Amino acid sequence: MAPHQFLAVIGAAEVGLFDALRDGPADAASLAKATDSSPVGIEVLAKVLVALGYLDEEDGRYALTEVSAKTLPIDELPAMAAFLKEGVRQSLDIARVVKENPPGGVLGWGAIRSGEMALGYHALMRWLASSVVDEVARRATFPRAARRLLDVGGAHGLYTMALCRKYPLLQGAVFDLPAGLASAKQTLPLNSDVSDRIELVQGDFNQDELPEGQDVVFLANIVHGQTAENNADLFQKIGRATTRRGMVLILEQVPDVPQTQLGKGIAAIFGLMLYLFSSGQAYPYERLTGWLEDAGFGDIKRQELRVAPGFSLVSARKRPR
Ligand SMILES: C[S@@+](CC[C@H](N)C(=O)[O-])C[C@H]1O[C@@H](n2cnc3c(N)ncnc32)[C@H](O)[C@@H]1O
Repeated sequence: MAPHQFLAVIGAAEVGLFDALRDGPADAASLAKATDSSPVGIEVLAKVLVALGYLDEEDGRYALTEVSAKTLPIDELPAMAAFLKEGVRQSLDIARVVKENPPGGVLGWGAIRSGEMALGYHALMRWLASSVVDEVARRATFPRAARRLLDVGGAHGLYTMALCRKYPLLQGAVFDLPAGLASAKQTLPLNSDVSDRIELVQGDFNQDELPEGQDVVFLANIVHGQTAENNADLFQKIGRATTRRGMVLILEQVPDVPQTQLGKGIAAIFGLMLYLFSSGQAYPYERLTGWLEDAGFGDIKRQELRVAPGFSLVSARKRPR
């Protein structure tokens, strides 16, 4: 979901628009009644959601698109909306943040360690990942001998599950804080074909070492949420945790690589959101490759995702010593 879509989704979640369409199509008048909204207001919102691809419209009747009906976590939208609203509210303090550069950003990881905010945040992560995971798994290429994968900050574990599905001999581990692992505990039972190959490891990657002996370390949307200093340390830990022929696969927003203007814009805006959220950034490609090289990796390759403009998949292999 691109950042500019948040507002429409928050609005729809809060008035119950998606909920009102759960049982089938409806016109603006019925939607206004069902959501206790102004007929003009609900139509304005519904039309935006049509333009963004969440709804279809035919003969003045609105319906969930096939994709929305399948993937939109309607029951979790209110929790997600609460998290997004708090994020937007805090981000309006941007002038102070730019002037003072407060350590840890305006919300920070502390705000989503538990409670409603954690539930909303992790529901959002699951939803965002569900639209990207298939392409990531399709593009990921691991050595045949790879047996152990560590998904750092893996939360819901959807990437680990898809990668274990692609590589039947792979054992996966999701490494995260307790709220992240609570999210994985929700998705694992829905993926029983691979769940017995996946371990949940609780830890703090800024405090603890990562479990050793990994053939692949995967990081999705982690680098952008951290300061440069923490990233440099994290890549050193990844270097120590990987085997002699190990590799790293990173999913990140990298604004300065050749891509469409839309991709550059989305990557840059993600960077700004993460700067506000937790003092992170959408780091330049050279910064990323520098951390990888300093940690002993080479053969660095990059591809851009098709389904998510602005998202790059970067792989690197341990340099022979
Ligand atoms: C942006 S989410 C990414 C989740 C998942 N990798 C994805 O792309 O959908 C960042 C994840 O990192 C976890 N995380 C943040 N700081 C962490 C830390 N210090 N140690 C372990 N996990 C952390 C969060 O709990 C969250 O699950």
